[in-house]
Formats: sequence, structure tokens, C-alpha cells
Amino acid sequence: MTIELTINGITRQFDGDPDMPLLWYLRDHAALPGTKYGCGMGLCGACSVHIDGKVQRSCVTPMSAMAGRRVTTIEGLAPEGRLHPVQQAWLELDVAQCGYCQAGQIMAAVDLLKTTPEPDDAAIAAIGNLCRCGTYPRIRQAIRRAAELARKEDA
Ligand code: FES
Ligand code: FES
Repeated sequence: MTIELTINGITRQFDGDPDMPLLWYLRDHAALPGTKYGCGMGLCGACSVHIDGKVQRSCVTPMSAMAGRRVTTIEGLAPEGRLHPVQQAWLELDVAQCGYCQAGQIMAAVDLLKTTPEPDDAAIAAIGNLCRCGTYPRIRQAIRRAAELARKEDA
């Protein structure tokens, strides 16, 4: 059975094993390696992408669930090279250390700001994405800064 889905605005067809995790498809078939493999069990958030505009863990999302769905990965967050406010804030505050978790952190932060434009520490902590380097204080600052930048863009 052919599964048709859209990734970063491009329609793609998949005819392989429907049990294949979306993460595998993104990295090995669609050549989008920005999304990372961490735990493979839905726990760490390194593999976070947006599916129909909502953050999801792609390591535990099978291709069989992807028919007709719209995926955005970190590669699709800045169409035409215009950075998302979360990306701008990440750069300003130099959030990344090793960088491995950061694509997932950014995708999760973008999703949070959609529903919670002025998140407090508890809302940010509820994201639950893990960072082995411990960049949590800078992530918190950057999310607040991104919220500020987004408000300015909307003004
Ligand atoms: S790799 Fe998907 S949650 Fe850890
Ligand atoms: S920056 Fe290294 S794991 Fe988060």
C-alpha cells in the first residue's frame, strides 16, 4: 500500500514496511538528518517533529499512521531562509552545547509557544525533552526571548 504524506511542503510516497518509524524514513529515505535518534522509545524528545502542526516523537510514530499527514522537521522551520523567532532566540543566547538534542528542543519550543505565548518555568519544564549537556537554563531563557520576539513580530 502506498502511503502519501507531505514533508516540509513536499509530497512524498512511501511503499515500504508500514511499521517503519517516521524517524527512519526522515533520516534514511528523505535525507533529512536534522531530526535525531536518541532513545528510540519516545522518552528523550531528540526525534521531535511536527505532525499536522503538533509536536510528536517520530521514533514511535509508524509510517502506517502517516497517510495524508503533514510533517515539518527542523529543516522546514525557516522557509525561504527566514528564521523562526525560536531559532533567532537560540542563536542570540547561544543555547546549544553539543547540539544533539537541539533540533528536538526547538521543535518542542515552537509547539509550546503556539498554545502558550507567555510560558512560565513549569510550562517549559513540561516539554520534557532531555539534554545530556544540561542546557536547560539557556533553553528557558531562549524560550522567553522567542516569546518576546514573536510578540514583536505580531505587533
Ligand atoms: S529518540 Fe524519540 S523520544 Fe528519544
Ligand atoms: S546540547 Fe548536548 S544533548 Fe543537549
